[in-house]
Amino acid sequence: MNQKFSATEYEKKYQQGYGVAYPESHIIRVYKQIIEWELGIRGGTMFDFGCGSGSHVKYFAYQGFVPYGCDTSETAVSQTKALLPQFADHFKTSHVMPDLKAMFGPLELNVFMTNQVLYYLGDADIHRIVDQAYAMTAKGGVFVASMMTHGCWYARDVIGTEGDFSRLQITSPRQTEFMLVNLKERDEMEPLFRPFRKLHLGSYGWQIRDEEGPHEHWLYVGIKD
Ligand SMILES: C[S@@+](CC[C@H](N)C(=O)[O-])C[C@H]1O[C@@H](n2cnc3c(N)ncnc32)[C@H](O)[C@@H]1O
Repeated sequence: MNQKFSATEYEKKYQQGYGVAYPESHIIRVYKQIIEWELGIRGGTMFDFGCGSGSHVKYFAYQGFVPYGCDTSETAVSQTKALLPQFADHFKTSHVMPDLKAMFGPLELNVFMTNQVLYYLGDADIHRIVDQAYAMTAKGGVFVASMMTHGCWYARDVIGTEGDFSRLQITSPRQTEFMLVNLKERDEMEPLFRPFRKLHLGSYGWQIRDEEGPHEHWLYVGIKD
């Protein structure tokens, strides 16, 4: 139920111009410091679950990867297709809990990433996506995922809980929004993404406006042995 809520909200947001045109710096750093430098992976195939308007698949395509991805927002997926017309049929609008193999056929991915998406899913659904990601990833392939921390300013006003989710009433001069978010502690991250083996568990964040406080996310990078 929550996933439908966030999926519907995001479709509305994309129709109103939401979405970034540039890759976020932590994704560039994960690519440069771990995928390329540490693991020596410089191409292959990659998948972005919740690809949004395509900034990260475009970045990986520039690095020589063949990109694939899905998102629940039809508007976002059509923006991604327009960004990478040569791979347009690699991007699909998905249900909140898709069967990725049925949608994309067999893939042997070198990178499966999902940035700022999984916290809209409950733990059981996250495990379903992780299991699918594991099945789609080649041996030696990388899994990159972010989750929101309890230190994020969004979590300042928790007005209750609902299963795995915190009910957040976000109120600032810039943003007034209700959200259900699956917030995670650091020690919950590694088990959440098994059977991938943890390589690095970092974090990233920013604070731009005084009154909003810091945005904080865990950044997990795992590998399929
Ligand atoms: C905060 S945005 C992040 C977009 C993109 N990953 C990025 O890093 O720019 C969250 C994205 O998750 C998508 N989304 C939400 N629920 C989803 C689900 N169950 N499956 C796939 N995408 C989902 C939204 O449509 C939206 O594009």
